[in-house]
Amino acid sequence: MIAKTKKRGMHIRTEGLGKFFTTGTHRIEVLKDLDMQISAGERVSIMGESGSGKSTFLQVLGTLDAPSEGRIWYDDRDVFSRPAHEVDAVRNREIGFVFQFHHLLGDHSALRNVMMPALIAGVDYREAEADAEAILRRVGLADRLSHRPGKLSGGEQQRVAIARAMMRRPALLLADEPTGNLDSATAESVLEMMLELNEEIGCTLVVVTHSPALADRLERKLRLVDGQFIETRGGQ
Ligand SMILES: Nc1ncnc2c1ncn2[C@@H]1O[C@H](COP(=O)(O)OP(=O)(O)OP(=O)(O)O)[C@@H](O)[C@H]1O
Ligand SMILES: [Mg+2]
Repeated sequence: MIAKTKKRGMHIRTEGLGKFFTTGTHRIEVLKDLDMQISAGERVSIMGESGSGKSTFLQVLGTLDAPSEGRIWYDDRDVFSRPAHEVDAVRNREIGFVFQFHHLLGDHSALRNVMMPALIAGVDYREAEADAEAILRRVGLADRLSHRPGKLSGGEQQRVAIARAMMRRPALLLADEPTGNLDSATAESVLEMMLELNEEIGCTLVVVTHSPALADRLERKLRLVDGQFIETRGGQ
């Protein structure tokens, strides 16, 4: 069991958010004048057609990419008004990412991969190791600590990625098609794991998915259409 922290998760608000890409003479407006809010601790799914801008939204929301226009507030902080090094620090300290392809480091063990965010943040080695071990045990990988990602199954790799994302007890967890490459039973168990960790840590959770079954498990459903969100209910 991971030590509980009484964090409630991050409240998010976007204001006039826009993201445009220009290729040659062509300008694509992916996100347009987007105003939205996510409450602290809320669990939200984002669906939408391929190319509708879901990944782009998640990248901008997580400060991996800058918006073309508008603002994003983390609690009461206007994130992009801050200098780049502060934005980096906020991202490292408060946000966890899980991607469709896990982005684990192939030359390092599962344990080392999970320890990495803590080591980068300057946490004591032994403390990071003990914590990473506890989280990996928690996601059912106690006997896979020294395996490299290439020696793990897809679902195991994704569980390592979730463990890594949780290592810093993020206030906001962003997942982009976290179960997109998994069979339905494995996808279900990986999702369960994410939800359990979300409850333990109390983070805000935003999951991009093409799976209606996954979206049904989260309390709030959004659909990205023409650069803006539509709230949806029931089977979408
Ligand atoms: N760096 C970029 N430069 C130019 N265009 C981009 C860039 N990144 C994304 N796009 C375009 O923005 C649009 C939205 O892309 P995005 O990856 O956000 O879609 P998505 O909803 O995540 O799709 P999928 O469900 O297929 O993952 C697409 O038309 C894409 O081609
Ligand atoms: Mg995408």
